[in-house]
Order: sequence, then C-alpha cells, then structure tokens
Amino acid sequence: MLVTGGSGYLGRWVAELARGGWDVTATYATNPGDLDGVEWRQLDIRDADAVSALVAESSPDVIVHTAALNPGQGNDFEAVNITGTANVANAAAAADARLIHMSTDMVFDGQRGDYREDDPVRPLNDYGRSKAAAEAAVTESGARAVIVRTSLIYGWRPTVARAAQWMIDALDRREFVRLWSDEMRCPIWVESLAAALVELAGLDYTGPLHVAGDEKMSRYEFGVALLRFHHIDRGPVFAVEVPRGRLRPRDCTLDISRARELLETPLPGVTRVLSG
Ligand SMILES: NC(=O)c1ccc[n+]([C@@H]2O[C@H](COP(=O)([O-])OP(=O)(O)OC[C@H]3O[C@@H](n4cnc5c(N)ncnc54)[C@H](OP(=O)(O)O)[C@@H]3O)[C@@H](O)[C@H]2O)c1
Repeated sequence: MLVTGGSGYLGRWVAELARGGWDVTATYATNPGDLDGVEWRQLDIRDADAVSALVAESSPDVIVHTAALNPGQGNDFEAVNITGTANVANAAAAADARLIHMSTDMVFDGQRGDYREDDPVRPLNDYGRSKAAAEAAVTESGARAVIVRTSLIYGWRPTVARAAQWMIDALDRREFVRLWSDEMRCPIWVESLAAALVELAGLDYTGPLHVAGDEKMSRYEFGVALLRFHHIDRGPVFAVEVPRGRLRPRDCTLDISRARELLETPLPGVTRVLSG
C-alpha cells in the first residue's frame, strides 16, 4: 500500500492501521513521518515524474491518496489538489493499482443535504472546486478508483485534530470563537475513517462512496461537543448564523447508507465516539 500524505492527520492513521496487514510505503512533503514499520519517502505530488517513479518503484496494489491542501493551508489548490491528484491517478492507472482518493462533502452546494453518491457536485468555494476537479481527474485517468467523500475529521491521538485545536488556540489567545449554527455536517472520527479506508483497500468496489459519521450536527454543536470533551468550558463561544448572501454550503450532510452496506467498519457519530 502506498499512502500519500502519510504525515497528515488522516494519512498517519491509515498507515498505522494498515501496517499490520500490508507492506506500507507512506509519503510526506515537508514533515518526515514518525511511524515504525512503514517505509517513509519524501514526495511532492505536483511533480509528475517523481510520482511515477515512486509508484513504479514501490509497485503498490493500492494507493490511498490523502495528500492535499485543506482550507487555511495556502492557495495552491490547483497545483496540489488538481494537478497533484491527476499525477497520482495517472500513475495508479499506469501501474494498474487500485486507488482510494480522498474527497470532501464540500463538493456539494449545501442547498439540500443528505447527499447521495450520484447527486451532482456544485462546489461553492475554491477548495470545493479544486476537490471536485480532482474527482474528475481521477475518473478521467481510468484508474480503478474509489472516490471517498467525507466530512469534518476529528480525533485526539496522537495529537488533537485541527477541528478542536483551532478553537483551543483561539480561546488561549482570549479571542471569541464564533461557530455557524446553521451549517450542518456529519463529522467523522479519524480512527473510524482510517479503518474504513483500510477495509476498502481490500474490496473491489469502485466509484464514489460517502464515508462520514452517522450523526448530523451544526458546526456550533460539534465545536461545543469537542470543547466539552477536552474539558474546556472557559471562554466566549458564540453560535452565529451564516450571513445572508455569503456563499457557504449550509447543509453538506452525507447519506452513508451505501458505505453501511459495503463496510463492516462502524461509522459512529460524534456523541457516540466522545462518550466512549
Ligand atoms: N480534515 C478534514 O476535516 C477533511 C474533511 C474532508 C476531506 N478531507 C480530505 O482528507 C484528506 C486528508 O486530510 P487531512 O486533514 O489528514 O490533511 P492534513 O493533515 O493537512 O495532511 C495533508 C497531507 O498532505 C501532504 N501534502 C501537502 N502538500 C503536498 C504536496 N505538494 N505533495 C505531497 N504531499 C503534500 C502533507 O505533507 P506534509 O505535512 O509532510 O507537508 C500532509 O501529509 C485530504 O484529501 C482532505 O482534502 C479532510
């Protein structure tokens, strides 16, 4: 198994859970990985030749492609998320490797919610547009691919995920935390998402697949639940509504019934995960 973005929050968990059953090569771009039992390689997915060379050398049965730029990590969405994904997908197709590509609920416009795999994508922001274009590049490559759309990722091992850390940092700086009360998502625990991806690696399913937690909640409810879990009850945390006219997907909840039928891995929602 080749895991791109193995130094990232999700990629590290995929490598950790897979290493018992697969020979795992994991890549990093700037932060060398720290997991034993995994072959670590530096890779910039924007470099098509480097991607092809690593895929040819490691000859993977499956590539789990988690490397990406997320919102707040710079503006190079086109080169990393679109061109980088096309490079990975084309290399997978050339090597006849199965590809599991990570996408997002932000490919939808959030006008309706409960999105199923075959609903048309209509992203509203640059990140969503780049991930939708990346999905198209995967399809065009002809690789045997699963396009996994997921929601907000959270967790606390080995570090606290960005979903909670940004609020903790803001409160430490004595800043207000404002959370959308009318933006609905299906947050997913990183450990269950990674387990689902490792299970998917061994299956034949191809096509889009929605893998998210089975509980819908607003960004406000999610934030408050995470802060309580981390025993942080101090500080001003406000529920605010998305301003009218602002282009922001309001309800990106995902219908996960296909994943439920396909996978044995449970996909618990936030309340169940945080209550242990
Ligand atoms: N986090 C969420 O809530 C969320 C929600 C929906 C979908 N997703 C998707 O899930 C996937 C994983 O997200 P994550 O939160 O685990 O991401 P993350 O923690 O930010 O990790 C991103 C990874 O991508 C690597 N990377 C960045 N630029 C690269 C480049 N040019 N070449 C090669 N590698 C590069 C990073 O390497 P270095 O750290 O070594 O630089 C890191 O390993 C992404 O595809 C993301 O779009 C995430």
